[in-house]
Amino acid sequence: KKKETEYVIGFSQCVGSDLWRKTMLEEMKIELSLHPGVKLVYRDANNSSSKQISQVRELLEMNVDLLIISPNEARPLTPIVEQAYNSGIPVVVIDRKTSSSAYTAYVGADNYQIGKMAGQYVSGLLKGKGNIMEIMGLPGSSPTIERQRGFAEGLQKSSNIRITNQIYGDWLKSHAERELLKMRNALDATDLIFAHNDQMASAAREALYKLGIKKKIAIVGIDALPGQGGGLQMIESKLIDASMLYPTGGKEAISAAFHILGKEPVLKENILQSLVIDSSNVQLMKLQWNKFSSQQRDIERQQALLSEQRSLFENQQVILNVTVVT
Ligand code: FRU
Repeated sequence: KKKETEYVIGFSQCVGSDLWRKTMLEEMKIELSLHPGVKLVYRDANNSSSKQISQVRELLEMNVDLLIISPNEARPLTPIVEQAYNSGIPVVVIDRKTSSSAYTAYVGADNYQIGKMAGQYVSGLLKGKGNIMEIMGLPGSSPTIERQRGFAEGLQKSSNIRITNQIYGDWLKSHAERELLKMRNALDATDLIFAHNDQMASAAREALYKLGIKKKIAIVGIDALPGQGGGLQMIESKLIDASMLYPTGGKEAISAAFHILGKEPVLKENILQSLVIDSSNVQLMKLQWNKFSSQQRDIERQQALLSEQRSLFENQQVILNVTVVT
């Protein structure tokens, strides 16, 4: 007999359509498959904070046992997340934060440190001198604020490097490209573009091409995803110079959720590691990723075999019962 669902986890995602968040959901599903008896109810707010608020409300009305949330913007999402937490529902915050400490656990990399690491790396790349254009994420979302603050800090010792332009690309390739195409003159005087994610870094590459700018302008992004269209591929094909790895935390969020539901202790802050990826280590990263994916495929094959055997066994039991009765 199939086990009944023991727990329902509600997952409120700020946007689900980009590669980074698809990877996050994939990681969550893999981890969930190791824990039968738990159901994930998924809601995608498609970049809208007001939509996300009503989706969280909907999840709460469904009486989920635990809420996982990546808040689109910090401030607008704070009251509803506080309300959930204060009513006794455990909350796991992933990647982006609210403006409050009312949550059970946070899972994600340290965006301030990532910004700082990017600043230090860029300072080396520019040999201590040059003009930078910074393409930032969505104004009110926490990684934008933290990456920007960290980046400035990482550049502090380089007095001959200046951030000459800052624009918002809202995390989106289309928005970043639209803004960049209006900035021809500024781009002519730019030596390096730092984008808060690789999607916007790829917009920079395309804008430079469309504007016919021939000057060598280095491009550095964040995320460094494997796979088609990911940052690793962009580094390999020299579309961008470097990217800071930003792990999605999908697996860790689900395992934190299981610990919480099982009344086991969890750390409040679960900080994931990052590193700089450029042409010197991109091949290594790709090799590791390929190895990981092939192991993952093996696990999936084994799971399929197991469930085949289980249903064979269940059928045999039915036949046995029938035999006994007749
Ligand atoms: C994906 C994304 C990533 C970025 C993160 C910040 O939606 O824009 O590219 O690193 O969100 O929250």
